[in-house]
Amino acid sequence: MKKKDLDWGSLGFGYVSCDYRFVSNYENGAWDEGGLTTDNTLVLSECAGVLQYAQTCFEGLKAYTTEDGRIVTFRPDLNAERMANTCRRLIIPELPEGRFIEAVEKVVKANAAWVPPFGSGATLYIRPFIFGKGPVIGVAPSKEYQFRVFTTPVGPYFKGGVKPITIRVSDYDRAAPRGSGHVKAGLNYAMSLFAIVDAHAKGFDENMYLDPETRTKVEETGGANFLFVTKDGTVVTPKSPSILPSITRRSLMYVAKEILGLKTEEREVYFEEVKDFAECGLCGTAAVISPVGKINDHGKEICFPAGMEKMGEITQKLYDTLTGIQMGRIPAPEGWIHEIA
Ligand SMILES: Cc1ncc(COP(=O)(O)O)c(C=O)c1O
Repeated sequence: MKKKDLDWGSLGFGYVSCDYRFVSNYENGAWDEGGLTTDNTLVLSECAGVLQYAQTCFEGLKAYTTEDGRIVTFRPDLNAERMANTCRRLIIPELPEGRFIEAVEKVVKANAAWVPPFGSGATLYIRPFIFGKGPVIGVAPSKEYQFRVFTTPVGPYFKGGVKPITIRVSDYDRAAPRGSGHVKAGLNYAMSLFAIVDAHAKGFDENMYLDPETRTKVEETGGANFLFVTKDGTVVTPKSPSILPSITRRSLMYVAKEILGLKTEEREVYFEEVKDFAECGLCGTAAVISPVGKINDHGKEICFPAGMEKMGEITQKLYDTLTGIQMGRIPAPEGWIHEIA
């Protein structure tokens, strides 16, 4: 198969319409079989549930070309499970896990020419989503839905090397206590736009959200979970009912404990203790780990010892091990690598 003639190294994180997408509809109480289409547009009722009451959810994962030329995805079963969990919270009919994985396989296979080659640093981002398409005017769940999966090639998250970022403690909340922070609902991201635009305007890369109930504990950022490393080398990640359970974070905690033999803790992390950590990183599908060099708390700075030039030592080890597993250089724990072609 001949790859598309793209300058893979200069791709950013944007939408490039690939040849195929997968579409399945839910009507009369059941999901249809669905299939591939080349049509990248939609015609919707002006009264669709997604447009009126934001009844929509999504997932994000990637397809990689391994060193030996296979096309693989990373733990898609966890994306399927998380999407089903989100659906339950939004009264969207669940899509069986097998159907989710099958759709991902079909769309990646059909777009194999768009999967960036090994060594380019680029990957194929996969975006599954479900939205209410039936008309609703009284506030209620829609009766009809569409599940769609498209792909877009994305560039290396860190061009020209990984540089630590600066984040600020946000005065806005991302999620309410007992709200929807633990699921991947589109509405959570609409709510975070004001805070991220404001953070960028003030020169910060991201927001650190604190727990909305007491504002004393670390939650996450708008698109990634936190990992901290203590001065004696323990990897710590915040536990909270209102953060999204990041698949990257869960994988990194496993790598830390089972592969690197480090001590790990998933527990409440008070903002007060952040100044005592040696390293800080943000983890998610997009970047695996983005090192945080500095946190600005209303003008007061917390600077991590690794500084603003490079990742901390343990963050680097975690990053190298997980990307090694994803690219096929390091043997993967059972079930982590899902081969597509
Ligand atoms: C709010 C939020 N937290 C964390 C993550 C990281 O999750 P994952 O590692 O599954 O990409 C994401 C991205 O999906 C996110 O949107």
